[in-house]
Amino acid sequence: MFEVLPQLPADPILGLSAAFKADPNPLKIDLGVGVYKDENGQTPIVTAIAKAQKILLETETSKTYIPAQGVQGYIDGLTELLLGKANPAVLENRVAAVQAPGGCGALRILSELIKRCNAETTVWVSDPTWANHIPLIGNAGLKIETYPYFDKDQASIRFDAMVESLENVKSGDVVLLHGCCHNPTGADLTKEQWQVVLKLAQKTGFIPFIDVAYLGFGDSLEDDAYGTRLLVNNLPEVIIAASCSKNFGLYRERVGLALMVTQNSTTRNAIQTQIQSIARAIYSMPPSYGGALVDIVLNNAELRAEWISEVDMMRNRMQDLRALLVSKLKEYGAKRDFDFVNRQKGMFSYLCITPEQVRAMRDKHSVYFVESSRVNIAGISLKNVDSLAKSLVSVL
Ligand SMILES: Cc1ncc(COP(=O)(O)O)c(C=O)c1O
Repeated sequence: MFEVLPQLPADPILGLSAAFKADPNPLKIDLGVGVYKDENGQTPIVTAIAKAQKILLETETSKTYIPAQGVQGYIDGLTELLLGKANPAVLENRVAAVQAPGGCGALRILSELIKRCNAETTVWVSDPTWANHIPLIGNAGLKIETYPYFDKDQASIRFDAMVESLENVKSGDVVLLHGCCHNPTGADLTKEQWQVVLKLAQKTGFIPFIDVAYLGFGDSLEDDAYGTRLLVNNLPEVIIAASCSKNFGLYRERVGLALMVTQNSTTRNAIQTQIQSIARAIYSMPPSYGGALVDIVLNNAELRAEWISEVDMMRNRMQDLRALLVSKLKEYGAKRDFDFVNRQKGMFSYLCITPEQVRAMRDKHSVYFVESSRVNIAGISLKNVDSLAKSLVSVL
């Protein structure tokens, strides 16, 4: 049976990693895959998580199945991080949630839920968006359309065009928004722009589907939740997919959350059974380990404070690297103003250079990043920033 299927081309980002590994140049630079790295190019275990692992090892007494919705302390802790303390939707029992295998798992089961509600729903995604949104949503069988988001020539958000496009979205359609640290552009909506998005949702009746994969990497854990909370506090229905891969450094443990804000507790109870039955039919129940670690960290005052300071450290380091790159580009004579890199948020930046220039960076200078010109800011270091800036100036 298998002969009928052809070999598929390598995933562009994973293919890039393979090419980077094979490159013998000792000065090569990897700005591809979206993983936080420290000054030595390592992705160490977050200290608060390492301590939680020890606690879990000593306290876990069974490996029996966990409840279908996942680790409850994890769900409650992450819900509070996303929606704030004592959110009315939580207090009114309007929030359904399941722990999911990563943000990807959450995006996929939520897409299945949207399809169960109405198979004709169109999901509107930003142009551009994270490449994996398309198969995660599309393979659930939903139609996908795009709304304008980023202007590469101006290196800024096309907010007027975005608003014009969203004004024409049908009631009941779904609009995917990045809660913070937009991937791939790093260009985030301002608070005022989020308010306009809220008004648009109220006017047209679209349902926001918010992907929150980098909470704390933009401005702060609180500020990065601004748009999510604004929509949740003012709309009857909101869908949220969250990930702990980046901010808790739990990539391989696959820790995510699928959260649905519903109109009332009767609907909430129905939707909770629906999302659990969707998960049951795909992977049954989520892995416990990562959720149990986040539960320990969020519910232990000392570890929670330690984790928050580690998130602050990662964010500040990335902001410093942005500033350093911009100043080095000036120093090495870039004619173009790259100051927009300082205004972008989170782990990614669109350098807004052409695919030919991206290829020249790889072929002539062994600097690896995707053709859209998205770079992983955390891949920059004090050691490589000079050669990175010189290479960039030379291909411009
Ligand atoms: C925008 C966005 N959403 C969701 C995810 C999901 O990540 P994971 O499934 O690893 O938790 C990522 C990871 O790169 C992402 O960039």
